[in-house]
Amino acid sequence: MAVGASGYWTQANALLRKNLTFQKRNMGTNVRLIFFPFVLCLLLVLLQSVINSELDKASNKCGCTCIDTDGDGQCEEVCGLQYSSIDQSFTCPIPSPPEWPPLLHVPAPEYRAVRTDFSHGDLPSESCKVTGACPATILITGKNSSLGQGVGKNMFQNTLNQNAGNIDSLANIVLGSESETELTNFLEPAFFSNLPVYYLLSKCTTNSTFPLPLPGATSIGVQQDASCVQGLQFWRNSSSDINDELYKGYRKGNSERKINEILAGYDLLNSDEGNFNASIWYNSTKKNDSGNGPIALMRVPRSVNLVSSAYLQFLLGPATNMLFDFVKEMPKPETSLRLDFSSLLGPLFFTWVILQLFPVVLSSLVYEKEQNLRIMMKMHGLGDGPYWMITYAYFLVISSVYMFAFVLFGSLVGLKFFTLNDYSIQFVFYMIYVNLQISLAFLVAALFSNLKTATVIGYIMVFGTGLLGGFLFQSFVEDKSFPRGWIIVMEIYPGFSLYRGLYEFSQYAFNGSYLGIDGMQWKDLSDGANGMKEILIIMFVEWLVVLCVAYYIDQVVASGSGVGKGPLYFFQKLQKKLSTSSRKFSLQRQRSQVAVQTEKQDVVQEKARVQQLLLEQSTSHSIVCDDLQKVYPGRDGNPEKFAVRGLSLALPQGECFGMLGPNGAGKTSFINMMIGLINPTSGTAYIDGLDIRTNMDEIYSNMGVCPQHDLLWNTLTGREHLLFYGRLKNLKGSALSQAVEESLKSVNLFNGGVADKQAGKYSGGMKRRLSVAISLIGDPKVVYMDEPSTGLDPASRNNLWNVVKRAKQNRAIILTTHSMEEAEHLCDRLGIFVDGSLQCIGNPKELKARYGGSYVFTMTTSSNHEVEVENLVKHLSPSANRIYHISGTQKFEIPKQDVRIADVFQAVEKAKSKFTVHAWGLADTTLEDVFIKVARGAQAFNVLS
Ligand SMILES: *[C@@H]1O[C@H](CO)[C@@H](O)[C@H](O)[C@H]1NC(C)=O
Ligand SMILES: *[C@@H]1O[C@H](CO)[C@@H](O)[C@H](O)[C@H]1NC(C)=O
Ligand SMILES: *[C@@H]1O[C@H](CO)[C@@H](O)[C@H](O)[C@H]1NC(C)=O
Ligand SMILES: *[C@@H]1O[C@H](CO)[C@@H](O)[C@H](O)[C@H]1NC(C)=O
Ligand SMILES: *[C@@H]1O[C@H](CO)[C@@H](O)[C@H](O)[C@H]1NC(C)=O
Repeated sequence: MAVGASGYWTQANALLRKNLTFQKRNMGTNVRLIFFPFVLCLLLVLLQSVINSELDKASNKCGCTCIDTDGDGQCEEVCGLQYSSIDQSFTCPIPSPPEWPPLLHVPAPEYRAVRTDFSHGDLPSESCKVTGACPATILITGKNSSLGQGVGKNMFQNTLNQNAGNIDSLANIVLGSESETELTNFLEPAFFSNLPVYYLLSKCTTNSTFPLPLPGATSIGVQQDASCVQGLQFWRNSSSDINDELYKGYRKGNSERKINEILAGYDLLNSDEGNFNASIWYNSTKKNDSGNGPIALMRVPRSVNLVSSAYLQFLLGPATNMLFDFVKEMPKPETSLRLDFSSLLGPLFFTWVILQLFPVVLSSLVYEKEQNLRIMMKMHGLGDGPYWMITYAYFLVISSVYMFAFVLFGSLVGLKFFTLNDYSIQFVFYMIYVNLQISLAFLVAALFSNLKTATVIGYIMVFGTGLLGGFLFQSFVEDKSFPRGWIIVMEIYPGFSLYRGLYEFSQYAFNGSYLGIDGMQWKDLSDGANGMKEILIIMFVEWLVVLCVAYYIDQVVASGSGVGKGPLYFFQKLQKKLSTSSRKFSLQRQRSQVAVQTEKQDVVQEKARVQQLLLEQSTSHSIVCDDLQKVYPGRDGNPEKFAVRGLSLALPQGECFGMLGPNGAGKTSFINMMIGLINPTSGTAYIDGLDIRTNMDEIYSNMGVCPQHDLLWNTLTGREHLLFYGRLKNLKGSALSQAVEESLKSVNLFNGGVADKQAGKYSGGMKRRLSVAISLIGDPKVVYMDEPSTGLDPASRNNLWNVVKRAKQNRAIILTTHSMEEAEHLCDRLGIFVDGSLQCIGNPKELKARYGGSYVFTMTTSSNHEVEVENLVKHLSPSANRIYHISGTQKFEIPKQDVRIADVFQAVEKAKSKFTVHAWGLADTTLEDVFIKVARGAQAFNVLS
């Protein structure tokens, strides 16, 4: 049955089916993997509920106290703002908010404007700083200076109102504070901080303070005094003068200069007697929590009232007064404090969750490489294209399912991180990242060949990235003065771009949950502070680049997919297309014959045959090795190691060639060159006319390999292995199932459900048989078997031999073995390979005849008859040679030409009559003897030379 090479999609299909089966077996691991985000989400929810219950504690709730309200001698609990600390007050229901006197923002004493080298000459002298009694300054300008100065004079009263102890009369007094305001004015922080409350007069008497008459304040144990500050006002010629002065006095960016803060500035513009028009400068530096709005606005109403009231007095006289009694918030219901903890921890935790996939993909790739499974598949015809496509798609599906589960769980348990942000942004972000991560794993896998190292490094990367992201990168992102360019540079590292993305999601979710609005939407991408857009672009570009680089490196470096192709292989490919030369047996050979060894006649003949074949360009031979050499370069001062020293060999179809040789003779190097694992140093070989140096990919589609160590997936069954490799060899439908069935039967793995047991549970012998079956499935033209029968019991071995014998009908087989019996049984020709070169070549009979030439005579007697036995042998043949002797048992080598077998029998009969012979034997030379002889001879030669 002639089956062509399998196409791209056939290979892809085979790999896909294999992976699916593999995945089915791997269910447990997968479930555990997917369970991880679930557990983590659950953990976050638990933490969140702990935090919520902590927030719900009394200390975070509206303050309560026990007061006897109905006079029955027992106290009842009453709650409310007046019983709350400032932290608690946020949650209190406030049906009727308290009234607070309006305040001005007054600079702290040490910052108030004084006369300096850069400031105006009319400001107070610096000496006031010593006593802390510097006046607070107001600057005025306008079109009409006499009007402006008149208004300015009315701003501050000369004396304190007599009834200052009465809360209602506070409206007559200009109060001020340096404290920062809150978001709401349910509690005026000025009265609850330890900063002083001021009242402003145009002239203070020394140490004039008075207790503030605030009923709410006393009930929570705060007693506050107001102290006097002198208020000054100065006329300036223009608003730009004021502006300049305010700017120079500003605290920030003025560190080496003195700070000169002005209380407020007024520009009366075109005001006249019938028209009041003014603009006000006030200090709004203090922003609200999200950093985008002034809350010092709370201090503005009083400054408006100050100027309007002064203007009225200027027009209508001192008796007129526009009183500003109080400010009061709108009522509000009870609220509870909510902090979305999961959003804060999110970036770190979720970075871990998502990065977790990286070691999983990486170790899976490195496993196939380390276990040589990738090469095994390649040797059986799996091209790089289908491998990449299916493997990539496979990881993509796993990652996507994982991410889907992650987002789903997170949403189901109600994490704001997921529910508030737009799902389509999340989808795009995770999808791009997952793709990037997979290509990155491909790239990194090219650098590792050890599973343990790869896994350890993978996990270190996961945790390191999370921690670096959480504790270093995030602080850079939050530090607005850190150059954005550097952040972009850092984001080129995929772990950080992932972190940044999650960080942005968490910020939007946190704020959204705090303010009760949605998280990130598409329109937010244009927000300058939102790094999401850059990240999406970076990751997308990086994905494409990494993917190409990874594919290139995979092709160039011999990393688990056989021999690398050299950095310029793309060009070579191109060249090959351009050149029209036939690729059959190109005869350019530029080697110098270095080792002029005393080559044996048969080896020289084989060499000549190869030359002949090469000249004839004949295709009658499946395998033609042309002076194949492998030299490993010397390392650490050691000389070069000649693993294979020029091997020429030609195998016709239907021949099984046995390679014998002691360990370390170079057999494995030879096989590795033939199956494309290593490059020959010089020389080459042609498989069906295809050069192993350039056409390995085509050779693979017609090759079967049974490696020395079984390369099997532990979780796949024998049948699944054969189905996979059968599909790779382009078997389909009933032909496939028939081939698999026959193959299983032939290696005795069919009965008793063995075929459907996982290969990991097979015994060593069963694995061996499966490996042989794999190498033969799909009728490859050339098969290499590296010690196929090691570890088999005699019955299975016989079985296997029959399989190989049947299989060799229409293909060439090269087989290495240590079993002479096997070699004799299976091989048409044998070569004994010692120290990198063939010592002899020929069929077993020839070899035995050539090297045998003697009988082995064994006799066992009691030890006192040994001398007699020796004499007996010497009598048979003077040139006999004792090769073995131990307490009564002796072995002799007797040249064949010296004796006839009948003579031996006679001699033994005679001996038996003289003394007791326990046992005796006469044997022809075995292959084993030949082997030992040749090996010894060659080694002796090498020691001499
Ligand atoms: C400036 O204001 C004063 C007082 O109101 C008024 O008498 C005077 O006419 C004004 N001057 C100008 C130039 O309008
Ligand atoms: C304002 O202008 C007047 C006259 O134009 C000048 O005498 C005075 O020094 C100026 N005042 C300031 C503070 O510049
Ligand atoms: C405004 O207030 C901030 C913070 O209190 C201070 O640093 C700054 O100097 C003030 N600016 C002016 C012009 O007074
Ligand atoms: C108030 O002053 C501004 C700025 O000088 C001017 O544009 C505006 O017309 C004035 N308004 C009135 C009512 O005079
Ligand atoms: C801060 O102020 C802006 C606008 O002034 C407002 O939209 C935002 O809600 C405020 N932030 C907070 C946390 O109150």
